[in-house]
Amino acid sequence: MPAESAGGEVIERPVPKTGERLPAVGLGTWQVFDVAGNAAEMAQARETLRVFVERGGRVIDSSPMYGSSETVTGQLAAELGVQAKLFVATKVWTSGKQAGIRQMEDSMKKLRVERLDLMQVHNLVDVSTHLATLRDWKAAGRIRYLGVTHYHAGAHADLEKVIARGDVDFVQVNYSLVEPEAERRLLRIAADTRTAVIVNRPFAEGALFRRTKGRSLPDWATDIGCASWAQFSLKWILAEPAVTCVIPGTRNPAHAADNMGAATGPLPDPAARAKMTAHFASL
Ligand SMILES: NC(=O)c1ccc[n+]([C@@H]2O[C@H](COP(=O)([O-])OP(=O)(O)OC[C@H]3O[C@@H](n4cnc5c(N)ncnc54)[C@H](OP(=O)(O)O)[C@@H]3O)[C@@H](O)[C@H]2O)c1
Repeated sequence: MPAESAGGEVIERPVPKTGERLPAVGLGTWQVFDVAGNAAEMAQARETLRVFVERGGRVIDSSPMYGSSETVTGQLAAELGVQAKLFVATKVWTSGKQAGIRQMEDSMKKLRVERLDLMQVHNLVDVSTHLATLRDWKAAGRIRYLGVTHYHAGAHADLEKVIARGDVDFVQVNYSLVEPEAERRLLRIAADTRTAVIVNRPFAEGALFRRTKGRSLPDWATDIGCASWAQFSLKWILAEPAVTCVIPGTRNPAHAADNMGAATGPLPDPAARAKMTAHFASL
């Protein structure tokens, strides 16, 4: 068992460039937190955030692309009194320097923060323009970290070029049993350049559960601490040492608890992980 997962503590991973430790499971908000104006769905989102933080979660990821999700995240964090515990990540998703500045200032208001933990260039849109602003903002203390994101293997080569320079703090990318392409090169380049990795789409937007539907976990899954297919997937991802944090999206409190469960207990060693890969491929 890796030392970092000993005991019942939540597994944490260091941000390579600073050593700051973050819980290895976070929360994505795409679609699931775009619920402003719907009281029942707001209540679900509130309870999900409450359970997430209660179980030791801190990293929450949003974007101006996600409808009301920044506003909802800011409102619910304030109502629950958990703002100080959260590590808030959002994105800039527009073209042009001034449009980017306006959008980022708007995001900070919606998220109700004076300083963002992480600002990422969403899908590499106008990346060089925004990275220049983000370097200035980081120097001025308006953001703590800067990063870039994408969700599709077709863009991994472009992400690799951006992080290869070594001056990007975080790369956010899709990586899962369903979409493992990042391990071809990108994860190694991230490790070599000491770039933190946030994994998005850990269930390939639910495709993983369509593959596992009606199938029991193999008996040996309990040896590696997996009580669900979600934990099987998340622990497989976290067993990759280049990964800093994985951000499954959910508005279901039970799913948030299930996902945080993957950040406790043992992680698979390379042999167990290879067995997991082979087993999933056989489904
Ligand atoms: N370009 C980008 O920067 C980019 C692109 C894509 C995603 N992202 C980020 O990454 C996050 C995650 O990606 P995603 O939301 O697209 O896909 P995902 O996390 O792979 O899958 C989300 C789906 O999994 C279900 N789910 C979550 N936990 C579960 C559990 N324990 N058991 C069963 N089902 C579970 C959710 O349904 P329930 O609601 O029913 O739980 C939802 O349908 C996003 O929310 C977003 O923050 C960023």
